[in-house]
This record gives sequence, structure tokens and C-alpha cells, in this order.
Amino acid sequence: RTARIAVIAGDGIGTEVIPAGIDVMHRAAGMDGCTLEFTEFPWGCEYYQRTGTMMSADALDILSDFDAIYLGAVGAPGVPDHVSVWELILPIRQRFDQYVNLRPMRLLQGVPGPLAGRSPADIDMVCIRENSEGEYSGLGGRMHRGTKHEVAEQTGLFTWRGIDRIARYAFELAQRRPRKLLASATKSNALQHSMVLWDEVVESVAADYTDVTCRKYHVDALAARMVTHPQTIDVIVSSNLFGDILTDLGAAISGSLGVAPGANINPERTHPSMFEPIHGSAPDIAGKGIANPIASIWAGALLLDHLGMTAAHDRMVRAIERVVGEGGPRTPDLGGTANTRDVAAAVTDALS
Ligand code: NAI
Ligand code: MG
Repeated sequence: RTARIAVIAGDGIGTEVIPAGIDVMHRAAGMDGCTLEFTEFPWGCEYYQRTGTMMSADALDILSDFDAIYLGAVGAPGVPDHVSVWELILPIRQRFDQYVNLRPMRLLQGVPGPLAGRSPADIDMVCIRENSEGEYSGLGGRMHRGTKHEVAEQTGLFTWRGIDRIARYAFELAQRRPRKLLASATKSNALQHSMVLWDEVVESVAADYTDVTCRKYHVDALAARMVTHPQTIDVIVSSNLFGDILTDLGAAISGSLGVAPGANINPERTHPSMFEPIHGSAPDIAGKGIANPIASIWAGALLLDHLGMTAAHDRMVRAIERVVGEGGPRTPDLGGTANTRDVAAAVTDALS
């Protein structure tokens, strides 16, 4: 079968790691008799500096015809970050109702970092982050701008339907995993409206999944627990902001942001889903060819899995484990001296 994939490599290291991911995906899918057709779009901050918009006006219509979207990262010095996020990433997530942001967090064998030395079996979590509302609703405004009386208001929007659907997705995932544990990230002691609703809805959904053990944790305590007792965490369900923060922490305890993938999923499959490394454009190392491509390769594996190419996904993840765990080349973020291409080539070789 053939799948059509839209590619937005974006800015900075996005343009270095996405081609690496595409090479590995081509090979992995081909080994299972699948063909991938990639179409690249030049959208991002450079496009913005030329045209005044991050994407062309018909971008969302164009993207809607693809089976999936493969995104690098956007963001460049000189373009405010709220422009790159609000004019590219969030419109895609919202228009295509990609309300699930799935982020695996695993310690790969042999990776350095703050929790190196622990068993990889101890750090194997997935965060299911609500991706369509919550703290990133965009509601609010500024008054008396530029004066000492200035006031800014940023409203979190939480709906019963929004919490119910993300909770069901998380419970279903937890049900398919061996430990069947779900941690709900809350803060209902301080956020007495939104997070109390969150707790109530999660509890009501729990009644439909009695084989899953669900516990709620205040998000600050959960952040600490991810570091001190990671083996007690399996699936996490969280709001948009909480999940954003917890998954960068998860990436750090996995050894590097350079290995952490993310999927923006429309579970109903009425629209394309989008797959990306969770890191940004990393201007500090852009252009040097040393960005770690593992996060993008892993995101590509998640993309193929979503399209039903499960064998290719498994092949890619095993190849990543082999290269990282068995002394293959490593980029500097993992303590090595290899470049992006060396790592991608090693993962491609390890596919068979
Ligand atoms: P960042 O993720 O780009 O970089 C944070 C640190 O991690 C840097 O030291 C960087 O060198 C390192 N790093 C990240 N990815 C790496 C990789 N693959 N290999 C090796 N090292 C890696 O986050 P930062 O610096 O906060 O943001 C830079 C730009 O990226 C900003 O414009 C920001 O808005 C944008 N950004 C975009 C995202 C997206 O497109 N989804 C997500 C996060 C940030
Ligand atoms: Mg983030």
C-alpha cells in the first residue's frame, strides 16, 4: 500500500533531523512492502520573514488531503515564539482536531542522563496530554498595554467533553499495557474550578475501566515522583500545559530532548494526525549537523504505526534500541561525537 505524507521540516535543526527520519521511514516501510510518498512544504519562520505568514493561506486545506503530517520544529531568533506556535502548530492541531498528544518517555539502555544507571524497565511511561483546550485555549487579553497599570488575563477553558474524550483515550491505552496504571495530573487544591471538573470527569470515566488502577497526583508532586519513583508511573493523563511541562521532564530523564517523540492524534481519523520530535529548532546547535535524529526517527515510527504499518514501527523502534543500547554512534547530547547522518545511517543499517 501507499501512504501520502506531508512534510514541514520547519526551522533550525528541523531541516536536519527530518530528512534523516524520512530516509529511515522509507527503508522500514519498504521492507514491509509499503510505499511512502513525501511532499515537502517550505513553511516556517524563514517563510514568515519572506511573506509575513508562517504558512500559505490555503495550507490547512492542502494538508487535509494527506494521510499524515511529519513536522520538524518551528522557531527562529527574530520571530517571536508565540507567532510560530500560534500561526502554525496550534492551527494544525485545532483544525484537524488532534486532541490527543501522545508522548512516550523511555530510558533506552545505556543512555546517560540524570537517571542513568536505573533499569530501562523502570522508566517506561506514556503521557496522554490534552491538546485542544485547557490552558492553551488562547482566551484572554491585555489591558492598559505598555503602562504600569497593565493587566493580562489568560483563561483556561475546560469542557466536560474535552476531558471525557482525553480520559477515555488514556484509559484505553492503559488497559492495553501490562501494568494497567493511570496517573491523572491534577492541581485541584489550587485550581478550584477547572481541575475539580477534571477530577470529577476522570473519576466518572474510571468507572468504565475497572481493570485500570487510576490515581490522581497533584502535578508538582507527580513531577517529583517521575524523578524519584519513575517505576510507579505507567500512563499519565494531563491537561495541555501540565503535559507540556511533564513531557520535557520526561525527555530529560530519558537522557535527552533529542530522543523524545510526540504524536498529535485525531483518534476518529476524520483528519490527518501530525508526528514530530518534541524538541524545538535548537538555534544553539542548528547548522552544525550534530542534532540527534532519534526523536524524529521515533516520531516517524509512531506515524507509520498510526497508518497501520505496525511491523515497520516495531522494526524502527528495535533499530533505535539497538543503535543506542549496543554502542552505536551517538550525537553529543548523548555523550558521543557522531553527527546526525552517522546516527541515521546506523539506525537504517540496524533495521534488518
Ligand atoms: P529546544 O528544544 O529547541 O532546545 C532546548 C535544548 O535542547 C537546546 O540546548 C538544544 O540544543 C537541545 N536539543 C533540542 N533538540 C535536540 C536534538 N535533537 N539533539 C541535540 N540537542 C537537542 O528548545 P528551546 O531552545 O526552548 O527553543 C528553541 C526554539 O524552538 C524556540 O523558537 C521555540 O519556540 C521553538 N520550539 C518549537 C517547538 C515545535 O516546533 N514544536 C517545540 C519547542 C520549542
Ligand atoms: Mg514543549
